[in-house]
Amino acid sequence: MDFKNKTVVITGGGKGIGEACAKVFYDDGANVAILDKDEPAQLYNDNRWFEVQCDVADEAQVKEAVAKVMGHFGAIHYLVNNAGIQRYGTVTDTTVDEWDIVMNVNLKSYFLCAKHIIPQIQSAGGGVVVNVASVQAFVSQRNVAAYTTAKTAILGLTRSIAIDFAPSVRCVAVCPGTIDTPMVRKSFSMSPDPEAVLQECIDMHPIGRIGTPVDVAEVVKFVCDDKAGFITGQYIRVDGGLGITINGSKKAD
Ligand SMILES: NC(=O)c1ccc[n+]([C@@H]2O[C@H](COP(=O)([O-])OP(=O)(O)OC[C@H]3O[C@@H](n4cnc5c(N)ncnc54)[C@H](O)[C@@H]3O)[C@@H](O)[C@H]2O)c1
Repeated sequence: MDFKNKTVVITGGGKGIGEACAKVFYDDGANVAILDKDEPAQLYNDNRWFEVQCDVADEAQVKEAVAKVMGHFGAIHYLVNNAGIQRYGTVTDTTVDEWDIVMNVNLKSYFLCAKHIIPQIQSAGGGVVVNVASVQAFVSQRNVAAYTTAKTAILGLTRSIAIDFAPSVRCVAVCPGTIDTPMVRKSFSMSPDPEAVLQECIDMHPIGRIGTPVDVAEVVKFVCDDKAGFITGQYIRVDGGLGITINGSKKAD
């Protein structure tokens, strides 16, 4: 795929799935802009690689970051809404502050970035918004009430963007299963036996492993390509089959 002279904005591109997305687009010639709350790591010292420190849940910071990206690259063609956080809790033990932070980062930021970047995509002649959701838009673990609610809502946002801005802007949700990123490693580390939790996760995926960030990034890049030009308003699960069986990949004894 050739993304030469095309600009992609990736939220949460400093680590994990977002970082992998940034690298695969960069390798195919794109101009890459990363919006991340962490300090820029400046992975490549190249004019095609541009990092802006930004809390994407804050509208003023998003507006300022978009202005910086426009100042640097002059146009935006693709937005990958990816920044996300994981918090644990049922509806009775999640505090209102925790609920709000999960909604703000995992859902409101997708709205804010779409709101301020879609007009730029339209001015550039059209493009694609990819929303990274989760298999938790369809099936849920225990104890993740706010997270699974936000991820489910992203599917509605994806449909709305797809309908409201067709045909010049397509919008697709990509829904990962368990992917080996700092977010997941942190979750594993909360257990007294992280290796056992990893094995449990592997057993839930019929493909026999958890995913890599690149597994997701390649699909994100594909849906942005013109070859995927007839796909809009849809979700694509990149989940190694998680959720298609009753007992995961465990073979009967
Ligand atoms: N890893 C998985 O198993 C998995 C599964 C399904 C969905 N997802 C989703 O994929 C996306 C990426 O997850 P990941 O596992 O790579 O996470 P990660 O924690 O490894 O990386 C997330 C990145 O987002 C950034 N970020 C967080 N809050 C931000 C904010 N307010 N503003 C700007 N940047 C912010 C972080 O600094 C970090 O660089 C998330 O939306 C997550 O919910 C992950």
